Amino acid sequence: MDIKNNISLRKYNTFGIDVAAAHFTAFSSVEELNESLEWSKKHLPETDSLLILGGGSNILPVNNINGLVIKNEIAGIEKTAEDDDSVLIKAGAGVNWHQFVLYCLQNNYAGVENLALIPGCVGASPMQNIGAYGVELKDVFHSLEAFHLKEKNSVIFHNADCGFGYRESVFKNKHKGEFVITSVTFRLKKIPDFKINYGAIKEELQKMNITSLNIQSIAEAVMNIRRSKLPDPAVIGNAGSFFKNPLISKEHFLKLKNSFPGMPGYELKNEFKIAAGWLIEQCGWKGYRQGDAGCHDKQALVLVNYANAKGSEIIELSNKITESVKVKFEIELETEVNII
Ligand code: FAD
Ligand code: EPU
Repeated sequence: MDIKNNISLRKYNTFGIDVAAAHFTAFSSVEELNESLEWSKKHLPETDSLLILGGGSNILPVNNINGLVIKNEIAGIEKTAEDDDSVLIKAGAGVNWHQFVLYCLQNNYAGVENLALIPGCVGASPMQNIGAYGVELKDVFHSLEAFHLKEKNSVIFHNADCGFGYRESVFKNKHKGEFVITSVTFRLKKIPDFKINYGAIKEELQKMNITSLNIQSIAEAVMNIRRSKLPDPAVIGNAGSFFKNPLISKEHFLKLKNSFPGMPGYELKNEFKIAAGWLIEQCGWKGYRQGDAGCHDKQALVLVNYANAKGSEIIELSNKITESVKVKFEIELETEVNII
């Protein structure tokens, strides 16, 4: 086990925020994970923080980490079962999500094509039930293995155990900080069920002159759309959508629609989901920059770090945005990114 001391986490978070970790290590197996936990128990006070890290694409570091950061690098993708219609594929938690999607595309395993190009690792994908272009992780999820930090045993969670919702799971609330996800098993289809009704997928496929549809062309269309509006973290620091799209009551929706007829929103089990990017743009923040903290000029839901912003400066901007949305629309935005 290699423990590094006092290192910068700048390259370990896609926001590119420069905070320090007092101690840092990586693990490639459950045994190595256990070793790092033992090291932490022996050398650090229990009050010191512990951070499990994947690709760092959904965190905003604000303060230095006084304890141990452990980066998940469990590798490997394997087929564990197969029938006439589907396959079960188990992936190590440290596998890069997009590499996993490419593996499925290469093998004609359908289900994750709409989730192409989402940054981060397989192990974090159940944390917030990642979603894009009409598909969520829960639609292809079979089970996961997670290591209980205190009880030191591995537990299997099936779909119904995970409490999946929109950007939600038990690992973000009821079981927050209790488990390290070590592998995820997916059920993928041999015969695809194309999902092309969301957003601009159909238009993009037309632009690409696709006549015979397949999962590879859907993934390519999704990647084209994503590249056209989302900033590449390698160029501008960001963690994707900073806020969730809010749900409001029908009454509230109709009242707002009266004053703002162009407001996008759709019904979801008696509530209405509103595009937070639209709300933020209407408040005048799109393209706004304050020092090195900003609101992206092509997608207002994405806050960015142009170079050397501090986590606290991103928070300061996010608070101003939240406040103005509240005043104008009486809607309370909720943060999607994990503040560390
Ligand atoms: P990290 O940022 O490393 O971790 C996120 C949280 O999960 C942290 O609290 C961490 O402690 C915890 N965690 C990580 N791994 C484990 C583990 N193995 N066990 C237990 N806890 C763990 N998300 C979407 O849903 N849809 C999108 O379309 C989307 N687009 C994005 C676009 C861009 C440009 C960026 C930068 C981000 C986007 N995201 C999107 C957010 C992000 O990619 C996902 O949330 C992703 O799953 C995070 O993975 P990660 O490995 O980087 O997690
Ligand atoms: N919009 C604006 N102005 C903006 C941005 C958006 O008016 O600056 C409006 C437009 O009307 C647009 C609508 O918002 O049609 C929706 O925008 P978009 O299709 O870009 O999606 P989103 O709702 O902003 C969500 C997810 C993304 C995911 C996309 C595609 C959340 C919080 N975000 O964004 O996920 O990729 O849909 O499915 O649900 C992430 O979680 O990090 C993320 C990027």
